[in-house]
Amino acid sequence: MTIISNDILKAKQLLENDDVVAIPTETVYGLAGNIFSEKAIQKIFKVKKRPHFNPLIVHTNSIEKVEALVSEFPEQAKKLAKAFWPGSLTLILKKKSNIPDLVTAGKDTVAVRIPNHAVTLQLLEKLAFPLAAPSANPFGSISPTSAAHVENYFKDSIKMVLQGGSCENGIESTIIGFENDEPVLYRLGSISIEEITAVIGEIKVKNKKEIAPNAPGMLERHYAPSTKTFLVKDVALFIKDYPNKRIGVITFSKKVLAPNIKKLVLLSEKKDLKEATSKLYQTLHDLDGLELDMIVAELFPDFGLGKSINDRLERATKD
Ligand code: TXA
Ligand code: MG
Repeated sequence: MTIISNDILKAKQLLENDDVVAIPTETVYGLAGNIFSEKAIQKIFKVKKRPHFNPLIVHTNSIEKVEALVSEFPEQAKKLAKAFWPGSLTLILKKKSNIPDLVTAGKDTVAVRIPNHAVTLQLLEKLAFPLAAPSANPFGSISPTSAAHVENYFKDSIKMVLQGGSCENGIESTIIGFENDEPVLYRLGSISIEEITAVIGEIKVKNKKEIAPNAPGMLERHYAPSTKTFLVKDVALFIKDYPNKRIGVITFSKKVLAPNIKKLVLLSEKKDLKEATSKLYQTLHDLDGLELDMIVAELFPDFGLGKSINDRLERATKD
């Protein structure tokens, strides 16, 4: 039986004994282990079926603790950290040599983040080591935004999910690294490009695999439900070609009615992109459980968090 509980001391005890625990964050749940425990880190890769070339994000709870992990902290990174931590920003910085290669996939950089979730911040405060934590889903599938999602994925292969409710932001952190001292955005996420630009000015975006070979996790197909999924401009028009299918539809705020639509979800009736983002993965999890023939999602506006939503839906639709 997997324990689902908010018992921080129990989580601490498991982590101190080289085990893994799923932890809540404001973005998605993570599958966490002590960065210095080879046993724990190996278990993370094994449970997730994650290839070893894909490095993990290191989570801690203060800038001082981040400084102990990195050998360089560029001015612009400091500005971003000040503006967004604790929060949904991951920075890729040159690592100190004591960080195990297993965590960083042998890279000379480490991804670091101070998450913004009260339960996990309390846990990190009590621990003498940082936590490596990828999203708590099997490789390639939709990230979990509730403790129940994690339990459904991993069943008895993990001992505990630290209960922290549903994730407020609902998609992964925005990842920023540096190339020749210039900031580069590697993954669209919970913080929009516009919010980043407001702090450090224009930023180069390399969110696509073909232009970001050094962001190994940016696979074309990812975040995918097991139900065949489509992303289209005009849902009503698209579904006309499938009169005999059972279809789940996701739109921003538009109501679409047709006999083949078995379930329609409007992500935000008031057209709030933040609300829509927070419901996206929960909705994909729900629709995936309805034994539909297909999920059809409407293309979101191409600005702010709409870009992040479109990015995830595009990856969910790749074959
Ligand atoms: O919101 C989040 O970021 C969640 C929560 C749990 O913090 N974590 C998360 O981790 O999404 P994961 O492992 O699913 O995605 C991390 C991404 C991967 O694409 C990985 O390749 C990339 O970060 N990454 C990690 N370390 C890196 C490094 N040193 N250089 C380049 N990319 C790195
Ligand atoms: Mg992930």
